Amino acid sequence: MVKIRQLRRQDVDYVLQNTKREQWGHTKRDIERCLQYEPNGCFIAEHENQKVGHVFTVNYDKLGWIGLLIVNPEHRGKGIGTQLMKKAIQYLEKKGTKTIGLDAEQKAAPLYERLGFKKAYDSLRFTKQTQKHTWIPTQTKNILPLKRNDLKTLTKFDAKIFGANRTRILQSLHDDYAEYCWIAKRNQKTLGYIINRKDDNVCRIGPWVCRPKHIETAKALLETCIETVNENSIEVHVGVLAANLDAVALVESMGFVQRPRSIRMFKGETAPKGDTLGVYGIVAPETG
Ligand SMILES: CC(C)(COP(=O)(O)OP(=O)(O)OC[C@H]1O[C@@H](n2cnc3c(N)ncnc32)[C@H](O)[C@@H]1OP(=O)(O)O)[C@@H](O)C(=O)NCCC(=O)NCCS
Repeated sequence: MVKIRQLRRQDVDYVLQNTKREQWGHTKRDIERCLQYEPNGCFIAEHENQKVGHVFTVNYDKLGWIGLLIVNPEHRGKGIGTQLMKKAIQYLEKKGTKTIGLDAEQKAAPLYERLGFKKAYDSLRFTKQTQKHTWIPTQTKNILPLKRNDLKTLTKFDAKIFGANRTRILQSLHDDYAEYCWIAKRNQKTLGYIINRKDDNVCRIGPWVCRPKHIETAKALLETCIETVNENSIEVHVGVLAANLDAVALVESMGFVQRPRSIRMFKGETAPKGDTLGVYGIVAPETG
């Protein structure tokens, strides 16, 4: 018999071990942050007192997100993944969520479809390696370091485009990666921003959000991230929604190479009320 219970801090190493096995590239801090976002909305499945799987949620008011669903390989195919998903959906619906989103690996899509999720569009993954350079990066006067006191106005800007308020996510990412966050402004008006989660030898870009059709600004933000790293062979990863053709064309023109894609799926009333054309880079599959 499988029991589902709330996930606690002591379970973070177990989750990390699972994400490592799946080669998802999470750090311990990534998982701790996810637990901080929704401390009561992350769950562990246990069989005979052994941990056998987990799932995480994030509640953005009317929009909810589900991610980090993994079941131990020897326990798969027995309905545990479905049970964890049902618990996550129930948690979000109790919070008043009207729409639930997730990024599905191809093989997992049938599981989600059985639970009422519908495919919206592909969620693409791109990678490139950095090269150390000797030139001084061109200073675009519109691109400035993102300061903590920018966050209040920024979260309003972000909510219009993403479709929900992500204050606690943006604050927490800024706390961890302050020196890798940039904002684009013109005449005091926010045009876009980008966060580069730079860890030892990897950069994970996102969120990367801009006013729709401000392609030059989006490009300048991404270039600033890459140029300021200025080290050799750092892998840069970014997740781009296939529905944003400008973003796809932009990363391809900058030499990013596509990796296996996921599928963005939604369950519920409607897709979020944001503007997909302004979302150049997602935060992460588990948070949207
Ligand atoms: C996805 C996963 C959690 C499902 O757990 P589970 O306990 O086996 O799930 P259930 O028994 O409730 O349902 C089985 C369904 O899982 C999906 N599935 C099967 N193998 C899978 C795999 N290797 N990877 C992802 N999903 C898979 C299928 O939809 C399957 O349904 P089907 O048999 O009708 O095709 C588990 O396969 C897993 O941990 N995979 C690796 C991590 C992963 O891909 N997570 C999902 C990311 S979106």
